[in-house]
Amino acid sequence: QAPSGAYVASPNFPVYHYSWLRDGAFIADAMSRAGQTDSAEAFFRWCAGVVSDRRPRIESLIERRRAGVAIDPGEFLHTRYTVDGQESGEEWTDFQLDGYGAWLWAFGLHRRRHDREMEHLMLGAELSARYVQAFWDHPSYDWWEEHPDHRHASTLAALYAGLDAASEWPELESDRRQSFAQTAAIIRETVLAEAQRIGHLPKWLGALRVDASLIAAGIPFGLVRANHPLMLATIAMIEAGLVHGGGVHRYADDTYYGGGEWLLLAAFLGWHYARIGRTADARRQLAWVASHATPDGDLPEQTSECLLAPAARQAWIDRWGPVATPLLWSHAIIILSEMSASMLPHTNADASRFGYDTRTSLAVGRHFRATDYVLALQHRHLITRAWLEQMNG
Ligand code: BGC
Repeated sequence: QAPSGAYVASPNFPVYHYSWLRDGAFIADAMSRAGQTDSAEAFFRWCAGVVSDRRPRIESLIERRRAGVAIDPGEFLHTRYTVDGQESGEEWTDFQLDGYGAWLWAFGLHRRRHDREMEHLMLGAELSARYVQAFWDHPSYDWWEEHPDHRHASTLAALYAGLDAASEWPELESDRRQSFAQTAAIIRETVLAEAQRIGHLPKWLGALRVDASLIAAGIPFGLVRANHPLMLATIAMIEAGLVHGGGVHRYADDTYYGGGEWLLLAAFLGWHYARIGRTADARRQLAWVASHATPDGDLPEQTSECLLAPAARQAWIDRWGPVATPLLWSHAIIILSEMSASMLPHTNADASRFGYDTRTSLAVGRHFRATDYVLALQHRHLITRAWLEQMNG
């Protein structure tokens, strides 16, 4: 975490040397749940600043949307920024909406969890919610920064969760809150109508296929209950098509770094299992993730054991180097899974066996800044590995 509050997506991977709103929202939520309130709040402050600094641009975008005036895609807010909140200047798939809802979701949960006022962030938070409200049904790049011509269900889930959170903030005028709640309900109905038509959540509105990011529509975004039949049908399709012995692919024709299995998606699936009471499956998922940590305890973005498109891998290595390691939101999602209610007894039992738990290992990082979050998480995963070795031995 930079002194500005931004979380760098991966410190060792040059093109991820930025702070993404999406990754950061999950990292901040993990930090908040682990009691690292200063860290989470520094990130929320950073987000509010990024949005407030662009206020005239956002007001103009909202106004033009209302008036039906065409907007050049280059004018939309970006998905990633330098740690100082500047746009990168490099070519990127910048127009992604989900992060502007996701950070509101994490911010709302944090305020409720720790009973925090944080009125000084309201200007940026409300502006972010109004931006999301104005553009929620506009196509944008998805979680994987692809397919800009579609409205993606996992993006819509993040926007729903952000507006739903904002609709509860007492600092906002009641008309405003109500209109956020109404838009959240419309988003939900739109996605569910489509899901009911085809029997599961779609990767994007109008598609038949699924994407592993859809897991988040249940837990944590709550667009549908994790045990809702449509969510269970979606999970069944993900299990049938995208899961191999624990690891989870993003989608069937993924070629990025050969289309490996993503650790954060394996942890998301564990989180889902934990929520619906499949605790043994949840533990298996988390063990799979931990077993793919490097000897130092770093969690990569993806593994290369089971590739969907092996021939495509080398070109990515030549272009950008080895797979991003550590990837901070891989660490965040395993923490979120470990700290979910039905997993805590197991996490605590493992912790007492080794004398540490997620929160104390995170606390190691409290006295430092910058890369110390990573160090704390590495420490956590060394413990997990020891636990795994004991289980296997
Ligand atoms: C992923 C994004 C992620 C970014 C930074 C990209 O490769 O597709 O989901 O936000 O990396 O971690």
